[in-house]
Amino acid sequence: MWGGRFALGPSEALDALNRSLPVDHRLWPQDVFASKAWVHALCRAGVVTSAEESQLLAGLDRVADKLADGAAVGAPDEDVHTLVERLLYAEVGAVAGKLHTGRSRNDQVATDLRLWTLGAIDELDGAVAALGRALVAKAKDGRDAILPGYTHGQRAQPVRWAYVLLAHAWPLVRDRQRLADARRRTAELPLGSGALAGSGFPVDRVLLKEALGFRAISANALDATGDRDFVADVLFTIALTGAHLSRLGAELITYASGEFGFVTLADNFSTGSSLMPQKRNPDVFELARGKAGRLLGDCVALLTTLKGIPAGYQKDLQEDKALLFDACDTLATVLPAVTGAIETLTVNVDRMAAALDPAMRATDLADLLVEAGVPFRESHGLIGRLVRAAEEAGVTLDKVPAKVATDIHPALGPALAQLGTWEQSVESRATPGGASRASVEAQIEELRRLFQAAASV
Ligand code: ARG
Repeated sequence: MWGGRFALGPSEALDALNRSLPVDHRLWPQDVFASKAWVHALCRAGVVTSAEESQLLAGLDRVADKLADGAAVGAPDEDVHTLVERLLYAEVGAVAGKLHTGRSRNDQVATDLRLWTLGAIDELDGAVAALGRALVAKAKDGRDAILPGYTHGQRAQPVRWAYVLLAHAWPLVRDRQRLADARRRTAELPLGSGALAGSGFPVDRVLLKEALGFRAISANALDATGDRDFVADVLFTIALTGAHLSRLGAELITYASGEFGFVTLADNFSTGSSLMPQKRNPDVFELARGKAGRLLGDCVALLTTLKGIPAGYQKDLQEDKALLFDACDTLATVLPAVTGAIETLTVNVDRMAAALDPAMRATDLADLLVEAGVPFRESHGLIGRLVRAAEEAGVTLDKVPAKVATDIHPALGPALAQLGTWEQSVESRATPGGASRASVEAQIEELRRLFQAAASV
């Protein structure tokens, strides 16, 4: 295809390094789609006749049929673009040679990859939303269950199980916003940029944009052919979603352990050990956590490739596809498994309740002293003494004798007596966004709406 000026064909070693077909073959539907739009544009620009246009379009349709039947498997071509062109020659003969007029593989590959990315974004968005809906549905059933809320791995304050699940749902809302934002920037059409300086033929780029479903046309051909920011956008978004799934996974691995026992994974979302018959392993969540490293790696690898190169197309950019495909495929595999594991897990309310340590009422007691007029810093210190007294007496915080409490502060005896239930403790933090029932219900309502709708910026 580009051999005219060389006396020798590429060496085997160069070919092995240079060929991208094993990776980019999956762009064929986009390559055919964009090529058909290009044929229209060439016809309107007077470069091919209507008869040639019809021939080329029919030929490209037959090429698509062949490719759908597996024509790319084992093909010797350098990349998907040369493959499609060779197959087109086989279908329509010499007129195939007119397809590449005014076009370069530089604007072609950028266009194909953007088209592919738009589809991938929509698919991932749907899968993220499905996980969001699973978390919200589970939260709906988890409004009454109260468990310790943890910071630093230490029991801190009581919260609702629903509230914990929702804390993992909100990051997904932001992930979808990032995907929508990436989508907007991805939908800029590079086609018509030529190799770097624009096309030598008067193709109507606005019509091409409409035909291919892009939002805008790129403003500078040199930038457009070398711009992979959209890949970086998506890889970052995916890496962060991966981190979110990893955090969700890490938490559930802990809760599924024998020591916690807060949740039990369903049989069909658990794995066993080849040696230890008793094991019920949370591989889904471990893999979600493990794959996050790989997703981050894809993002870092692309940014590292981009940082060293000048404007315009450089062959370094061929690396973009392996990274993007890997990240999209990986996340597309992780998301449904995590969603299924969430949907099917059972909650052990008794184990959650058993983990509620009266020491977690220390803040409530400090707040009660504040209500009795003690400045908070002072009351914090007084309750600290109460906690120490309980530890020394070997009793839980609620069982400290009234006399000991009253000695620390006169208001403390009555405060201890009016502590109330765990439910009351959770309800006492009633600010919007807190763990109270009203807040949890408002969040469920809002998230239900957000995960039903298509993502928006
Ligand atoms: N296979 C190439 C890639 O994926 C297509 C663009 C090649 N352009 C070029 N001037 N060699 O980036």
